[in-house]
Amino acid sequence: MSDSILLLAIESSCDETSASVLSNDRVLSNVIATQKVHEKYGGVVPELASRAHQQHIVPVVQQALTEATIESKQLNAIAYTQGPGLMGALLVGTSFAKSMAMALNIPLIPVHHMRAHIMAHFIRNTSDQKVPEFPFICLTVSGGHTQIVLVNSPLDMQVVGETIDDAAGEALDKAAKVMGLPYPGGPHVDRLAKEGDAHKYTFTTPSIAGFNYSFSGLKTNLLYFLREKNAQDSSFIERELNHICASYQCVVTEYLLAKLEAAAIHYNVRQVALAGGVSANSALRSKLSQLCERRGWEAFIPPMGYCTDNAAMIGISGYYQFLQGHVGAWNDVPRASWPLEGSLR
Ligand code: KG4
Ligand code: ZN
Repeated sequence: MSDSILLLAIESSCDETSASVLSNDRVLSNVIATQKVHEKYGGVVPELASRAHQQHIVPVVQQALTEATIESKQLNAIAYTQGPGLMGALLVGTSFAKSMAMALNIPLIPVHHMRAHIMAHFIRNTSDQKVPEFPFICLTVSGGHTQIVLVNSPLDMQVVGETIDDAAGEALDKAAKVMGLPYPGGPHVDRLAKEGDAHKYTFTTPSIAGFNYSFSGLKTNLLYFLREKNAQDSSFIERELNHICASYQCVVTEYLLAKLEAAAIHYNVRQVALAGGVSANSALRSKLSQLCERRGWEAFIPPMGYCTDNAAMIGISGYYQFLQGHVGAWNDVPRASWPLEGSLR
């Protein structure tokens, strides 16, 4: 243990306050406090998120240290999410990380949230675990982002495609909302779709050139479909909920994977990964496995606990940055919007 790097990581970009302790690439603890306060508003309320982060951050960090049986004075560095995310939420994690690192006189490591989702694949859970080899391609799908990223090394990542409007998670969450499902709707759509016929209804697959995505038309397509059906029969949504969820989810996942497949062929890579909250989706996970089996590629799908927001992924990103000397400065500020490629200079 004495030669290993002990790192505390903090994530506070949206509605999860999380802290994790890593020893090199192994996770000793990963504590996540999910903010329930947003459920009744049908989406994250930024002001409430900041307040909840303030309430959670100290106990969450204390719990992470306790579970890891580490004292703060043993830490070698502190990694934190510098962005992208909600400004007020990021400010809480950033200020806390700065104060603690300054008090302990240890380096501060600013981490890009979307890079961290990808780097979650490098968390070492078992000694014989297979990790992706470079270069590989990763579909990063969350509530705020949808990107196809060519990953050349832990620090060298290139965005080769991304959504020009809504993110995939947003497309699922907004669809769930119009069907009266709780926030966040993605997991509910996933659950309901399991009992539905994915080919009962057809929605138009968006058409846009290259490896970019667009989800706003699909969302509108669903909205008009539901309006029309509801005008004819007000019990339609309730009665057909499973089939609507299955059919809509089918279009979203097949669309995501069609572009990913094309990008993998174009960049001649045989290792294909998923990352981000939507990678918890059971249809997306099984369809990627099938695609890779068919093509003779290798699929990398993160364990469920590392799909949605967590500090362990910030820790693993921070660890690789620390190894390369990419530490931050005391006057670094949170970056609400922050291009992935511009985040490591
Ligand atoms: O990565 P994440 O936790 O937060 C952001 O960085 O945005 O992703 C949250 C997104 C939400 O849109 C949520 O509905 C979606 O991930 N999500 C899912 C599932 N679990 C979470 N979407 C579909 N199926 C799921 N099982
Ligand atoms: Zn995320």
